[in-house]
Amino acid sequence: MKGNRASVTAQRVAMQRAAHQLLDDPKVFDDPVALRIIGKESALVLQADPHQYETTPLAPYLRAFVAARSRYAEDELGLGIRRGVRQYVILGAGLDTFAYRNPYPQGTLRVFEVDQPATQTWKRARLAEIGMTPPGGLTFAPVDFETQTLEEGLRHAGCDPDKGTFFSWLGVTEYLTTEAVMTTLRFIASAPRGSGIVFDYMISPSLLTPAQRARFDALARRVESAGEPWKAFFDPGSLASELRAMGFGYVVDLGPEEINARYFKDRKDGLRVGSLSRLMNAQVSGSATSQGV
Ligand SMILES: C[S@@+](CC[C@H](N)C(=O)[O-])C[C@H]1O[C@@H](n2cnc3c(N)ncnc32)[C@H](O)[C@@H]1O
Repeated sequence: MKGNRASVTAQRVAMQRAAHQLLDDPKVFDDPVALRIIGKESALVLQADPHQYETTPLAPYLRAFVAARSRYAEDELGLGIRRGVRQYVILGAGLDTFAYRNPYPQGTLRVFEVDQPATQTWKRARLAEIGMTPPGGLTFAPVDFETQTLEEGLRHAGCDPDKGTFFSWLGVTEYLTTEAVMTTLRFIASAPRGSGIVFDYMISPSLLTPAQRARFDALARRVESAGEPWKAFFDPGSLASELRAMGFGYVVDLGPEEINARYFKDRKDGLRVGSLSRLMNAQVSGSATSQGV
């Protein structure tokens, strides 16, 4: 992604979350701010015909994954808060709306939105346009993962490195170099016990079946033409091993079967996630449970 340009895919995935609010019942991810954050004009257009962006058969699978990854991250954040986490860092936040609908009592959680500077400037203009004031507990931390360290960006923003911190990194790793992804994860592994991260990642194309590969290629062409080509892909087993080697004591990898069983079971509309991306949950702990450390 060009550093001086706001992310186009950030608007696209926000549109998916907004469409999920209108199209899917029951909702996997309930976001009362999802329609507002896409901007007044886009909201009107989407409301007029919520199906209009379903231009390929892949659209419901993508929408399901975008909803599920946010739901999983916020479910895990809730468990983190029970473990004592008091800081939430949203990496590559795009139009994420957590901070503007934070359900926890005031003072429970400091929230940091980290993003590439141009995207963050664009989001702040969007917030002003829709009349939404950033809440007191939120701090914006502009960081380009390719050229700056997260450590420095967070220190500058006032994030306390000695406090348990939960990180989410949704829809971002595929746009970065493998080196930038690993450098960032190594830093998170050094956070205090009880800290953790949920992120999603794309499976290495070499591990895909021909049918999956065709879907991958179609999607890759779309993001490339938006100027945000995919760069980093992972082998699930190797990634889990690398996370353990970094010092994450608890590592859980969720593929489509686990995600569908957890969030899309017994639906009448058949909504479910596809098989190109997975969710990773890594915690800084010696314990083998996500319920508490
Ligand atoms: C597909 S959007 C996902 C946004 C958000 N996490 C969500 O799920 O709605 C990708 C995000 O990654 C961010 N991003 C891409 N490259 C980046 C970089 N080098 N440094 C920081 N952020 C980056 C973009 O600015 C954008 O916000």
